[in-house]
Amino acid sequence: EESPRLYTREEVRSHSSPETGIWVTLGSEVFDVTEFVDLHPGGPSKLMLAAGGPLEPFWALYAVHNQSHVREILAQYKIGELSPDDKAASILKTSDPYADDPIRHPALKVNSQRPFNAEPPPELLTENYITPNPIFFTRNHLPVPNLDPDTYRLHVVGPPGGQSLCLSLDDLYQFPKHEITVTLQCAGNRRSEMTRFKEVRGLEWSAGAISTARWAGARLCDVLAQAGHQLSETEAHVCFEGLDSDPTGTAYGASIPLARAMDPEAEVLLAYEMNGQPLPRDHGFPVRVVVPGVVGARHVKWLGKVSVEPEESYSHWQRRDYKGFSPSVDWDTVDFDSAPSIQELPVQSAITQPKDGETIESGEVTVKGYAWSGGGRAVVRVDVSLDGGLTWQVAELDGEEQRARKAWAWRLWQLQAPVPAGKKELNIVCKAVDDSYNVQPDTVAPIWNLRGVLSNAWHRVHVHVAP
Ligand code: HEM
Ligand code: MTE
Repeated sequence: EESPRLYTREEVRSHSSPETGIWVTLGSEVFDVTEFVDLHPGGPSKLMLAAGGPLEPFWALYAVHNQSHVREILAQYKIGELSPDDKAASILKTSDPYADDPIRHPALKVNSQRPFNAEPPPELLTENYITPNPIFFTRNHLPVPNLDPDTYRLHVVGPPGGQSLCLSLDDLYQFPKHEITVTLQCAGNRRSEMTRFKEVRGLEWSAGAISTARWAGARLCDVLAQAGHQLSETEAHVCFEGLDSDPTGTAYGASIPLARAMDPEAEVLLAYEMNGQPLPRDHGFPVRVVVPGVVGARHVKWLGKVSVEPEESYSHWQRRDYKGFSPSVDWDTVDFDSAPSIQELPVQSAITQPKDGETIESGEVTVKGYAWSGGGRAVVRVDVSLDGGLTWQVAELDGEEQRARKAWAWRLWQLQAPVPAGKKELNIVCKAVDDSYNVQPDTVAPIWNLRGVLSNAWHRVHVHVAP
């Protein structure tokens, strides 16, 4: 019997396009699945996400592959094995502050490696109402701290005459456990569309800086009450500090109004679970803040300290970032003190299928996407146009029903519609309406801002129709 052909990971990686052929690995086996891509029951675009690398992280998301007939199909395409030397490769650079960051899911589209910023690809983003933890978008400003759950303590500063708390994880578990589904969106979601209009300063997010999870933890109002805090006229903000810090020792920080923090109906959480699991390291292990309806920047991860203050957090990210400005303001004229910090976000929606530039079949088209609004405002409607906004059809809303004033999570939506006869291309557009009848602006121009935040113009996708 012949010994199997051996390949390095590098060789496998270089086979990730139709021109080179599509290779994947499972365990130590290497497969050339070029011929299978178009036959894949889950569609070619999903299979392509694994092109040039291991199948395991993807198959872990889709248990449908744990069947012998799937293994048999794959076996037909085996071309060899990974070379054993290849496993002894990685050299740790200890001087790298990011060397201890966790391992990430390969499906994530990485916008920056250090600090780590990444979004799920549109093919996966709206596949599930609840985003699986491994592909939940990640927005880090600093290296991920490696915290020991046994020695972890949360410091809650008490009011004058009250008591400060120093809570272990076990102490936090003693508070009533509250669980809610919340969509988190970064202020920079869809920034790349603003950049295309005119340059902005910031990471190039597509439409994936948004994800949804079931979060569980103690309610912030219960913890603040235990420390003796009450609604007060002089102390108006709750400040949070993360345990991630830059080389000067400055920690990530942010704040929210005290009134929101103290309102049981606002359901602000000190979360220790995400989709039934302890928080993954990238998402704040062991404890993060979850502020339903509010911009991601206030959901402080790796939470170390909570205090009630007369002023907003003095953190850079509260005062010198995450604010909106007129299109006329540039980096020479910007006055960050003149604008309020972003808290509740405006109504948002985007198309995840089909993808921009794709060629679709004539006959019928399925358009899919998400819609969400800040402040607990429910999505009441999503309108879709196939002709750039001249005529509109109402999409079907999927996913969980939303509670009035507490619509913390997105709606997924879809529209199935005939492709108008004779069309060679379609300009697909979506826009959502929330229950305050807020709508999205039709173009980027009137909402462009130098930092590229709050990008919520009609989402547009241009596709070709196969002849
Ligand atoms: C379904 C094979 C890669 C996502 C299936 C099925 C097969 C298959 C045979 C149908 C299973 C059944 O219904 O009994 C393969 C092979 C792959 C591969 C051989 C690699 C060479 C992937 C990847 C992803 C993926 C990388 C995701 C990123 C899916 C999904 C379905 C599916 C979502 C379900 C489709 C549906 O029922 O709607 N795959 N797959 N597959 N696959 Fe894959
Ligand atoms: N908390 C800490 N401690 N450090 C951070 O860098 N990033 C914030 C927020 N909380 C951040 C943080 C920003 S800008 C966003 S959008 C969300 O976390 C992202 O949360 P996620 O990575 O779990 O998606």
